[in-house]
Amino acid sequence: MSHRSIGVVMNGVTGRMGYRQHLVRSVLAINEQGGVTLSDGGRVTLRPVLVGRNPDKLAKLAADHGIEEWTTELDAALADESNLIYFDAQVTQARVKAVLAAIEAGKHVYAEKPTAENHGDAVALAEAAAARGVKNGVVQDKLFLPGLLKLRRLIDGGFFGRILSVRGEFGYWVFEGDWQAAQRPSWNYRAEDGGGIVLDMFPHWTYVLENLFGRIESVYAHAVTHVPERVDERGETYPATADDAAYGVFELEGGVVAQINSSWTVRVNRDELVEFQVDGTHGSAVAGLRNCRIQHRAATPRPVWNPDLPVTARFRDGWQEVPDNAEFDNGFKTQWEMFVRHVLEDAPFPHDFASGARGVRVAELALRSSAEGRRLAMER
Ligand SMILES: NC(=O)c1ccc[n+]([C@@H]2O[C@H](COP(=O)([O-])OP(=O)(O)OC[C@H]3O[C@@H](n4cnc5c(N)ncnc54)[C@H](O)[C@@H]3O)[C@@H](O)[C@H]2O)c1
Repeated sequence: MSHRSIGVVMNGVTGRMGYRQHLVRSVLAINEQGGVTLSDGGRVTLRPVLVGRNPDKLAKLAADHGIEEWTTELDAALADESNLIYFDAQVTQARVKAVLAAIEAGKHVYAEKPTAENHGDAVALAEAAAARGVKNGVVQDKLFLPGLLKLRRLIDGGFFGRILSVRGEFGYWVFEGDWQAAQRPSWNYRAEDGGGIVLDMFPHWTYVLENLFGRIESVYAHAVTHVPERVDERGETYPATADDAAYGVFELEGGVVAQINSSWTVRVNRDELVEFQVDGTHGSAVAGLRNCRIQHRAATPRPVWNPDLPVTARFRDGWQEVPDNAEFDNGFKTQWEMFVRHVLEDAPFPHDFASGARGVRVAELALRSSAEGRRLAMER
């Protein structure tokens, strides 16, 4: 069987996502398993070319992982014909310029979400990629999480009957940085640097809702900055200008109502950092990142509201765990393999820049909805 290697320019690999999920857990992991398998049984390994701003960090990263190529010159990496794919996990604000340069150089482009800070730019990226005839993709990793794959299985199997509503809880406490270091980069809390929980999380909610339950028809959101001041990586206090919590309501086609709280200012009293409860006429499910519990209509208890009596029923005991019934790989890696097949043999890849732009659009509408205090319709 044939074996080939393709160059993948990776920008932003010194960051949290670029390093851990994309370089180590996806690209290097793919090479360790012998490459991506194509439909004819051929194998493709990926030759990472690390791009960034800090030569010392890049040199160290390359040495740590036995990677031969790194550069601070994006143009030089793009000029190399053997580099087929450009990948971008930079801070959101730096994305559009670099991705446009890659498109112009004729590279197939794969990028973290959100693809841009505003809808106009996100659409411009999709149009530029289409005009240049290059394949394009956006990271939509949550769809490949075991918990959501189980949810997908329940939907496909008709478990829910008619789905009525979806209720999502996402969040955890992100330390302010004063007496304990913040566990997220400070740019996330500055609107002027592309931060904010709406721009960060609503693109995720868009593809999760639209892939599992139906297209978003309207958006209502209330976005707030609960913690107005934080301390950055250098120990300096800065004003938090971006939203750190958002309370959103989405109407989906077919009448499903989705309500999702996103917050970096809540303490977790859940089994997982994100959970979606789906209620249908025939059954309900609560899916997290890994697990999914269900309750069928036949096993639904019959609570009666009476505050004078103590609650004796243990409601959470009446739920059943959905078995794995499969091996779940890292979701980022699965999507990388899909994208490589899409580039090399035109395999289907629905997670394109156009779908990425819808996520940016929903985030934009949510922020406007919050500012104007009203529900806004989403165009088709
Ligand atoms: N798919 C997901 O679940 C997920 C999760 C978190 C973040 N993200 C996305 O990934 C991207 C990176 O997020 P992160 O949390 O890894 O951020 P990070 O701050 O850890 O990393 C940012 C990277 O961009 C580089 N960079 C380029 N230009 C920069 C500039 N002007 N200022 C600062 N850094 C610059 C940094 O050197 C670094 O390599 C964001 O677009 C974010 O929305 C996706």
